[in-house]
Amino acid sequence: MIITRINCYNFRNIIKADLKPSSKLNILVGRNAQGKSNLLEAIFIFTTGRSYRATKNEDMINFESNYAEVNIELEKKKNKHRLYLQLNDNKKTLSIDGVKRKRVSDLIGYLNVVSFFPKDLDLISGGPKERRDFIDMEISQVKPSFYKLGNKYSRLIQQRNRFLKQNYQQEYQGTLLKSYDDQLIELGSQIVHKRIETLYKLSILAKLSHRQITETKENLVINYVSNIGIDDPIGKLNKITKEEIEDLLRKKLLEEKVREKERGTTLVGPHLDDFTCIVNGRDIKRFGSQGQMRTTVISLKLAELQFMRSETGELPILILDDVLSELDKERQHLLLDNASGSTQTFVATTDVSLLSESILNNATIYRVDGGNFLLNS
Ligand SMILES: Nc1ncnc2c1ncn2[C@@H]1O[C@H](COP(=O)(O)OP(=O)(O)OP(=O)(O)O)[C@@H](O)[C@H]1O
Ligand SMILES: [Mg+2]
Repeated sequence: MIITRINCYNFRNIIKADLKPSSKLNILVGRNAQGKSNLLEAIFIFTTGRSYRATKNEDMINFESNYAEVNIELEKKKNKHRLYLQLNDNKKTLSIDGVKRKRVSDLIGYLNVVSFFPKDLDLISGGPKERRDFIDMEISQVKPSFYKLGNKYSRLIQQRNRFLKQNYQQEYQGTLLKSYDDQLIELGSQIVHKRIETLYKLSILAKLSHRQITETKENLVINYVSNIGIDDPIGKLNKITKEEIEDLLRKKLLEEKVREKERGTTLVGPHLDDFTCIVNGRDIKRFGSQGQMRTTVISLKLAELQFMRSETGELPILILDDVLSELDKERQHLLLDNASGSTQTFVATTDVSLLSESILNNATIYRVDGGNFLLNS
């Protein structure tokens, strides 16, 4: 998949930009606060319709304007697509190939992206939510219906929590709780099953990348961790069926019934799950060095690329925001060589001298200054 054109109007500090990026490596270089990350954000927003850093539309609209527009043209399996988003203070307007769409989530699956933002370096050291988001986003990009499933499940948990906070002594309320439980088991088992299946595939790919990066010194294993009694090497878990997960959820809900009522919150389900990365037998989150955690994140990102390719038949777009400077030359190369041979890549950096000559020779370079993007020729 290749982005052939990017148009932005009034998107943050980018008043007007029109880029025809290279199908290989594109480097955005400029001093701090010039608009490099803003352009990457404008691309990223087309993965789900949401930014990775803004929750409000107005944050992304130029201070002097009351709307912003972003257009992207892409080629995918020899087909061309046009994605268009207009941001107003309180709404987003989307059209795909010239046809207006009601839901912004209709975008999911059009533009597949593997992104690497500085915050991702904390994927391992951060909290479980970040890892759940990582895996859920991964699945959603190759299977858009999973995104809807996740939203449905989140709404269910909100309703169930509200219900648990109330007193449910009466009989009809008991019936209502049973209905919530049945839904939790149905939706929850689908989510857990899909996450395990995906993590299994990712873990095989990540293990290979990790061996390569660490020159076979480190063995990476990924575990899915759930309080329903799942905490095993994913390799063994791969065989677990949706029905077995349903049984585990049902059993745990029964066990936690009293505590859930006392606490007024849902204590069972995939919204509490996590995965751990085990390197040479030890949980890297607890025992790994900073560098080992970063290497593990790179292994996961490279695995994401391969995973998306095998699931969709297309390489995704790779976005690297300011992370290369955080890596030594060897790891920079591993990331870019593995990826950018045939992956369209966007890199933002303040200092090109941090990149090796062989990387720069094959790159299209844009100088970024005050929201303007000038092709370096
Ligand atoms: N809604 C907005 N309207 C106008 N300018 C904005 C808006 N939101 C952010 N900016 C400005 O955009 C500028 C560029 O931000 P950006 O994050 O793209 O910088 P950058 O080039 O990636 O810099 P760095 O190297 O520090 O990461 C910042 O000065 C920021 O204040
Ligand atoms: Mg930046």
